[in-house]
Amino acid sequence: MAEEKKLIFSGIQPTGTFTLGNYIGAIRNWAPLQDQYRCVYCVVDMHAITVRQDPVKLRQHTLEAYALLLACGIDLDKSILFIQSHVRTHAELNWLLCCNTQFGELSRMTQFKDKSARHADDVNAGLFTYPSLMAADILAYNADLVPVGADQKQHLELARNVAQRFNQRYGELFTLPEPYIPDVGARVMSLQDPTKKMSKSDENPNACILILDDKDTIIRKFKRAVTDSDAEVCYREGKDGINNLMSIYSSVTGKSYEEITAEFAGRGYGDFKVAVGEAVADHLQPIRDNFARLISDKAYLKECYTANAEKALRYSQRIVAKAFHKVGFVDKG
Ligand code: TYM
Repeated sequence: MAEEKKLIFSGIQPTGTFTLGNYIGAIRNWAPLQDQYRCVYCVVDMHAITVRQDPVKLRQHTLEAYALLLACGIDLDKSILFIQSHVRTHAELNWLLCCNTQFGELSRMTQFKDKSARHADDVNAGLFTYPSLMAADILAYNADLVPVGADQKQHLELARNVAQRFNQRYGELFTLPEPYIPDVGARVMSLQDPTKKMSKSDENPNACILILDDKDTIIRKFKRAVTDSDAEVCYREGKDGINNLMSIYSSVTGKSYEEITAEFAGRGYGDFKVAVGEAVADHLQPIRDNFARLISDKAYLKECYTANAEKALRYSQRIVAKAFHKVGFVDKG
């Protein structure tokens, strides 16, 4: 009998238009995986409310995120793409996992430390237990592989530890998920401070490329990117700004670092920055065009996310029902 294809799970928060970091670090890898694996992708609106959100904007951003993922090539004939709050098994399994996650392990999460410092007036319990919900997302499907950027590695390690602990306490159920992190572009850095990761929460709009930015805006932001006082385009320790631009250019053109160095030998940073901006803008153009078409058809989007939530529920509830049974809950009739 043919071996069953491995299962991929990943999610993204609907907290505004995706950044080039989200795209290169995670989303652009999602579509190519669809032919080789069974893929389940999710807009994680429940994670988003761990920091305060305007309800009107959250609803709008969730729909936009759904359309944007379709625009990035998620194909509903091959993958399941749904909205997290539509599928109750995530919250249900989250509770079981919270009861099997230690306070100490959650306290060590660097994202919790960063976010609680940034939102000091709202260090809520959801922000603290965020990684348990993320583990529930993954384990509810018994995912084998999780394509993410490098910043999510610690959360994935926690998901593996919790899965292992659950299996030891209650008997084998969960698959231990493996991270799937790209070699180039796993950590796209801020254009204004290349020692920090690119993030939509950055106060300086020039620090971050949004994937729906128009071509002129993209080129302008790259022209202003912080680099160094050298003039050589090469990947070297200490050249954080240039290293970041090289990894971006490499991921959208497929060129190696050696090829890029040769291409810009004897030319200044100015030329290089414009070339990166043009390559990124051209690469993103089809996504912008697809998005414009999809977001104007709300009825189609609704049809897609409704049918896909049903599929996701059907799949995950078999696994979550087993987990309920294992912890000793009385089976429903
Ligand atoms: P989120 O929404 O912050 O980011 C979505 C994806 O984008 C990646 N990413 C980056 N990659 C490279 N460089 C950057 N500057 C950069 N910024 C973001 C992230 O690593 C991520 O893969 N907790 C997750 C969402 C989540 C999830 C899950 C992911 C919830 N449940 C289950 C996988 C599986 C998050 O906040 O991602």
